[in-house]
Amino acid sequence: MAQPTPSSKVDLGALDLKRMLHPNTNLAALHRGAPLVLVRGKGVHVWDDGGKQYIEAMAGLWCTTLGYGDDELARTAYDQIKKLSFSHLFTGKSHEPGILLADKLVRMAPFAASRVFFGNSGSDANDTQIKLVWYYNNALGRTKKKKIIARLRGYHGTTLAAAGLTGLPSFHKLFDVPLPPFLHTEAPYYYRGAHPGESEDDYATRLAASLEQLIQREGPDTVAAFIAEPLMGVGGVLLPPRGYFPKIQAVLDKYDVLLIDDEVITGFGRTGEIWGAQTFDMRPHTLTAAKALSSAYLPISAVIVPEFLYEPMIAASGEVGLFGHGFTYSGHPVAAAVALRTLGIYEERKLYEHVRQIAPQFQAALSSLAAHPLVGDTRGIGLVGACELVRSKATKAAFDAKLAVGAKAMQLCQEHGLIVRAIGDVIALCPPFIVTSAEVDEIFAKLRRGLDDTLAWAQRERLVEQP
Ligand SMILES: Cc1ncc(COP(=O)(O)O)c(C=O)c1O
Repeated sequence: MAQPTPSSKVDLGALDLKRMLHPNTNLAALHRGAPLVLVRGKGVHVWDDGGKQYIEAMAGLWCTTLGYGDDELARTAYDQIKKLSFSHLFTGKSHEPGILLADKLVRMAPFAASRVFFGNSGSDANDTQIKLVWYYNNALGRTKKKKIIARLRGYHGTTLAAAGLTGLPSFHKLFDVPLPPFLHTEAPYYYRGAHPGESEDDYATRLAASLEQLIQREGPDTVAAFIAEPLMGVGGVLLPPRGYFPKIQAVLDKYDVLLIDDEVITGFGRTGEIWGAQTFDMRPHTLTAAKALSSAYLPISAVIVPEFLYEPMIAASGEVGLFGHGFTYSGHPVAAAVALRTLGIYEERKLYEHVRQIAPQFQAALSSLAAHPLVGDTRGIGLVGACELVRSKATKAAFDAKLAVGAKAMQLCQEHGLIVRAIGDVIALCPPFIVTSAEVDEIFAKLRRGLDDTLAWAQRERLVEQP
């Protein structure tokens, strides 16, 4: 493949360190190193400003499902910009790409949905979810039913409300979140959370009982909704134990608590089904989608809701004078047109089938890493997975977080031309849907080399037992 010439004479890395306030980054660590500046992408590959090629095994941030530089999506954006570059949805205005995308999503939803509210990110969509639930309960006169339960280790974004749903300490500390109405119950983390010898089913029963206790403690008439990702991505690629969602759902039904399904990572085929809800037997009332919705070619998110939730809001907004929620770019026509085409491409290029076909190879290669001396656990489904690095396989003892072993592994993989993501010491993989069988082999060959280098480094530093 032709090497691109570096596109700029400016030292982008140095300028970045002077000018950028990076999102979701350890700023202290960044200033001891350098950013990875990408300048070009094609298919599953990206190139940095020095001309080095990488295979992008994280699809950016779990999102570039169609890979990079797709001509059809580029043309779609160009055509829509020429036709109607902006139009909005406030005060009864509308436009064709938005209407057609809403209709498509309602027809795809894994429950009896009727309407779609558009946003620009997963975070703002989850804020919308919360506001819809509150608006709905206020409209019904249930003014106390406001608390939202999320899960420790869950990730739902970083806006002021969504950060409160997120159950990871580094998204709370120094930010004064969560705000009071957000509560957290236990994460489904079988590798570390289950008692010795506890079956997945028993573990799931225990988690559901723990949720029920929380609802009872808080008072069921104060709990409005429960939000969950079908599988936790940013929390460390945690799959629910068998039987988890039906047991959780029984508790939610008992106390009239809505289930918000956060499909920002899992939506549109990642787990092998169109929705993670189908893979894990979830029966949500509402759903959040983003990322793969447009293959991340343009920012767009969607909240898909049922009519029962919308209907009481009509009269309520009439009394207030406005349904006072929305963004300038809600349903931006260019993003909506690209999203609509993305969903069309998934079907036309048979990508849902492709993910299902290639997933066994991907998962088998991932499982084979379990034999590696540094790997304590491997887990995954469809085209997403992770391996968890440990100091001792026998005891599952973790490395001291300050050693940043995962970050080291990520860096060493990068040296081999592989982009993965370190979530603490969990190495996550989430390649574009278009990945081929040969590219899956390439990903795991490079990952193995990266892990071997990490082991050699850990041995030199005496972080693990000497061979
Ligand atoms: C499950 C989930 N929900 C919400 C978000 C937040 O999305 P965004 O970064 O677009 O705000 C993410 C981002 O990774 C996510 O994984």
